[in-house]
Amino acid sequence: MTNLFEFLNSSVGKKWLMALTGLFLSLFLIVHVSGNLALFKDDGGLAFNQYTVFMTTFPPIKIISYLLYATIIIHAINGFYLVAKNMKARPVKYEGKKNNTGTTWASRNMGILGTILLIFIATHLIHFWYEYKFGEMDWKTYVVEATTDNVLKEEVITAADAKAQNLKPATMDYMGNKIIICKNLYGVVETAFKDPLVVAFYVISMLGLSYHLLHGFQSAFQTLSLRGKNYEGLIKGIGTFVFAIIIPALFAAMPIYFLTR
Ligand code: HEM
Repeated sequence: MTNLFEFLNSSVGKKWLMALTGLFLSLFLIVHVSGNLALFKDDGGLAFNQYTVFMTTFPPIKIISYLLYATIIIHAINGFYLVAKNMKARPVKYEGKKNNTGTTWASRNMGILGTILLIFIATHLIHFWYEYKFGEMDWKTYVVEATTDNVLKEEVITAADAKAQNLKPATMDYMGNKIIICKNLYGVVETAFKDPLVVAFYVISMLGLSYHLLHGFQSAFQTLSLRGKNYEGLIKGIGTFVFAIIIPALFAAMPIYFLTR
């Protein structure tokens, strides 16, 4: 155990910690973007609201959530430490206007990109996560056809009424159909993304995410010495197309969809 702590405190250990936490966060992004695709469904928010009930009540996922919060904090603190250490080691900026260091813009600005993402995540959590867990928000009831999952009827229950009735998320059989009761987080997302400033903030942040992952994903494999000749092309391809293009583009498409539909 002491050896593990000693290793994690060393320069190499800190880079490993950055790589491992970064890859865990990349995995989270795949799950998060996939689940959020339910926002594009034209079902009055049923699929998305049900997905959030599952994500916030299923015990194994709740445990993974705590690991996720810890990972974000460790990745951020360790990142700040490594950037500060690099700046101390190289206090004079590269001379000349041209970048002749053989490095990319993203790799030289990981600290700034990471800071943009930290601000984004803090704002994002206050917007949605805090609102869902601790805020007072409207609920929704859906009557759903049991065989087809088609929404037959939907009704909003105000936050005040939901509180007075002490509502809990539930699914019940009702004359051959289903009644589903859940918090209307879809409504919170829909309202937030009607504001062009919020949408602009999300889209710009996703640009930051794209550049952060363009360098970060490939760099993690390099740090862990897993970027052998055989896999180099594959890792570069996944890092570029999946993590720097598809995932940020899908995330950015969500606020744009609500603003423009
Ligand atoms: C624009 C697209 C996005 C939308 C619409 C969105 C929506 C949401 C919503 C509604 C929640 C609260 C419900 C839940 O826990 O599932 C949430 C949680 C969260 N989001 Fe996002 N999100 C987006 C992009 C992102 C990005 C790009 C990141 C990270 C860089 C991120 C990080 C998180 C984290 C860490 C949580 C807390 C998860 C948990 O409690 O387990 N989100 N998001």
